[in-house]
Amino acid sequence: MTAMLSVTGVKTYYGNIVALKGVDVEVNEGEIVTLIGANGAGKSTLMMTICGSPRAREGSVVFNGRDITNLPTHEIMRLKIAQSPEGRRIFGRMTVYENLQMGAAVDGNTHFQDDLERMFTLFPRLKERLHQRGGTLSGGEQQMLAIARALMTRPRLLLLDEPSLGLAPLVVKQIFDAIRDLNRTEGLTVFLVEQNAYHALKLAHRGYVMVNGVVTMSGTGKELLERPEVKAAYLEGGH
Ligand SMILES: Nc1ncnc2c1ncn2[C@@H]1O[C@H](COP(=O)(O)OP(=O)(O)O)[C@@H](O)[C@H]1O
Ligand SMILES: [Mg+2]
Repeated sequence: MTAMLSVTGVKTYYGNIVALKGVDVEVNEGEIVTLIGANGAGKSTLMMTICGSPRAREGSVVFNGRDITNLPTHEIMRLKIAQSPEGRRIFGRMTVYENLQMGAAVDGNTHFQDDLERMFTLFPRLKERLHQRGGTLSGGEQQMLAIARALMTRPRLLLLDEPSLGLAPLVVKQIFDAIRDLNRTEGLTVFLVEQNAYHALKLAHRGYVMVNGVVTMSGTGKELLERPEVKAAYLEGGH
């Protein structure tokens, strides 16, 4: 089987500093794959490298058989990769509705109403808050909006960077349940970057562990949850 996304030997630098030291990751169609690792490991850098900013200095990123390593970011997005970046960068001065319109705009707005209804089913909170400004939402609601906005582009691959960051356990559960639902009902392919290893590995079909810009372990979510090294470094008391 050819993977939907293949990251091969990717090295990414910030100036002279190497952040990714030769990373291999694959995501197959219909999978939820997670990348876990401590703060500073290089998780966000990998997600951003997939989107072309910063760019891989060595190695390749292939999506659906097409080499996207050197494609401009807006062209990568047009291939139906959507990202919800770390820190949920929604438009704070725009309403929930306007934020969702911005997402749909990428796709030409042809099924805006249908998709809006889908988002309300997924995150009923967004319907209640529709005309409220993004910046006045709670952290959990902002995260829901960031994910919904990404979904409005009808992506084939959804990239999520730390959706659980700073959220209460109950809200994290709602968000992870929504991701699981999308994957089960629509077959959405998801690449999830998380420090919250326990929940991420429970949700994901497969996972990778990153340490200092290198992938050190991979396996099914279940296998990784049971690995003593994973337990010691990422799970003790962590859930
Ligand atoms: N814009 C930047 N300029 C220079 N160094 C950066 C920049 N962004 C991240 N880094 C460094 O790259 C490494 C990986 O960071 P990052 O990908 O954000 O890790 P993670 O998402 O796993 O916390 C860290 O050492 C970080 O300090
Ligand atoms: Mg990060």
